[in-house]
Amino acid sequence: MIDVDRARAETPGCEHVVHLNNAGSALMPQPVLGAAVGHLELEARVGGYEAHDANAEAIDRFYGATAELIGAAPEEIAFVSSATRAWDMAFYSFRFGHGDRILTSVADYISNYLAFLQTAERTGVEVVTVPNDEHGQLSVDALRDAVDDRVKLIAVTHVPTNGGLVNPVAEVGVIAREAGIPFLLDACQSAGQLPLDVDAIGCDALSATGRKFLRGPRGTGFLYVRSELLERLDPPLIDMRAADWVAPDRYELRRDGRRFEEWEQDYAGKVGLARAIDYALEWGVEAIWERVRDLGARLRAQLGALEGVTVRDVGAERCAIVTFDVADVSADHVMETLRRRGINVSVSATSSAVIESLERDLPDLVRASPHYYNAADELDRLVEAVAETDVV
Ligand SMILES: Cc1ncc(COP(=O)(O)O)c(C=O)c1O
Repeated sequence: MIDVDRARAETPGCEHVVHLNNAGSALMPQPVLGAAVGHLELEARVGGYEAHDANAEAIDRFYGATAELIGAAPEEIAFVSSATRAWDMAFYSFRFGHGDRILTSVADYISNYLAFLQTAERTGVEVVTVPNDEHGQLSVDALRDAVDDRVKLIAVTHVPTNGGLVNPVAEVGVIAREAGIPFLLDACQSAGQLPLDVDAIGCDALSATGRKFLRGPRGTGFLYVRSELLERLDPPLIDMRAADWVAPDRYELRRDGRRFEEWEQDYAGKVGLARAIDYALEWGVEAIWERVRDLGARLRAQLGALEGVTVRDVGAERCAIVTFDVADVSADHVMETLRRRGINVSVSATSSAVIESLERDLPDLVRASPHYYNAADELDRLVEAVAETDVV
């Protein structure tokens, strides 16, 4: 059970705002803020390189904490500046040719699709969007049917940007393993929200961001690559962090996950993310998941009962992300009205989920995403404010 009062007391932002935009960027708890700001202050006091040396243990805890979070080994982890950069470093390491295929999900993230389209243009690889099933989630049967010798990668998003859907990724992992196809999972919106175990899921690479449900600083993220795959992946960009210059005409890539890292890093962000992950582990991700899933379900029920409000989330399993639209009111207007009343939500634009929005004829959606530190009366305030939103 989550002690909500303690969680709120440890979250300075709770005094100022009803923050229901955790899928955008969550409120940092005090220990995370302290770790990140403390490191910046140390840099200012003693120098950046010297601060790194002095705080090395807390910074390097990033690898152990991340490994614990997802059931991996610290050597399989890279620190990066965003989930997109993490995903790109893995994706652009694969070599595709004409006639190869990539299987992906309808609700895959916009930047993943942009990379698919660019790679298709460059290499002739075919990107196959596996249809959804009757629940609106990736169809496991359709995925199984689409697997053949041409498929070189399965790349799926766990929790999409525009809804409460949780894709059935463990079933995807079984298919990928049986077929011996690498499986890249975008766990950007699931990390910190629900339990992740790379062996149980059966993914070979996983990307995530720090600022969302992990409650870390912005500009942080991580990539996991399974050890068996690591040495076969040649990063699209390298620098002196990723490789050693061993002779005038030769370099050697690092053998661990840090081959995907940059030499220069935001160490305040990294130590903040390390603390954020430990903080999530201290609460227990199972307990977090239980609470956020309940808050999501409660909010869906409350909003669904309002006249003119349509809740749009699909999937057999739904998380803390709640999307809806209000008849005759634009999503931007709803967001701005709520912001004026001290309530933060965001808008999922159709332009960031083109395939799904076209298939389901969706308008821009309001996205509310509670976290475990949100109180039930904050959901009530949101619902009241939505009910009172003026038609424009
Ligand atoms: C499913 C999904 N993947 C990836 C990303 C990108 O994360 P980042 O902004 O850290 O690159 C997002 C961000 O909204 C997302 O929702």
